[in-house]
Amino acid sequence: MKNLGQLLQHGHPHPDTEGLTIAHARGYELCGAICFGGMRPRAYGRLARLSGARPGDRVLDVGCGTGYLARRMARTVGPTGSVLGIDPSVEVIEYARGKTREAHCSYETGVAEGLTAPDASFDAVVISLAVHHLPEDLRPAAFQEMYRVLRPGGRLLVADFRPPRTRAVRHLVAASAGHVMADYRVDLLDGLVTEAGFEVRGRGGVRPWLRYVQGVRPERPQSGTAGTTA
Ligand SMILES: C[S@@+](CC[C@H](N)C(=O)[O-])C[C@H]1O[C@@H](n2cnc3c(N)ncnc32)[C@H](O)[C@@H]1O
Repeated sequence: MKNLGQLLQHGHPHPDTEGLTIAHARGYELCGAICFGGMRPRAYGRLARLSGARPGDRVLDVGCGTGYLARRMARTVGPTGSVLGIDPSVEVIEYARGKTREAHCSYETGVAEGLTAPDASFDAVVISLAVHHLPEDLRPAAFQEMYRVLRPGGRLLVADFRPPRTRAVRHLVAASAGHVMADYRVDLLDGLVTEAGFEVRGRGGVRPWLRYVQGVRPERPQSGTAGTTA
């Protein structure tokens, strides 16, 4: 029997990426609402604050899915700012467009490991619940791309699923959502952030089950990191 993750994802490799892409936007939305147990608005409001974005900022939401965080970010930056959400899945991008009223919040298909935006074109980059959708070997390239498109001094917020610590509950997650989530090494986010050249400015948890890392692209690249060559 298929688990929830398999039901919501494309059943075959996506032509543009080896990442696990979401095919059923409505189903994903429903699961998001249920799995957060009513805490989604508060959790994503907190992510918007943790992103450090301010009114007037240009924000990129990588792996935006149905656009829940992108719309929240649009409220934060206001009409003088802009939010662009990118995701390889045409289905979620169309859903996100249909849900979004703010003219300064737009969407495009695209992949984290090969962003098409110019260098230094954003003040803040956010990525929520999408790193675990990328195969491990694509993750460093995705973080280098996020570094490249952020201006020096710009901020990165990465948030992802923190698997439960107790084995029994992890089994439950594996049975319902799959091993990609149950066995996800969220503790490796810090290394991905620093290896791309960011300075880590904060980390912590957001209830009910998110872990986040905040990074800043230094004004000058740190020697010995991927950012030196970006
Ligand atoms: C669990 S959803 C998270 C959506 C949204 N950020 C949120 O917080 O609800 C993960 C998203 O990552 C997207 N994804 C998969 N491969 C990707 C890639 N290579 N680049 C960017 N996004 C990708 C999927 O299509 C999916 O929409």
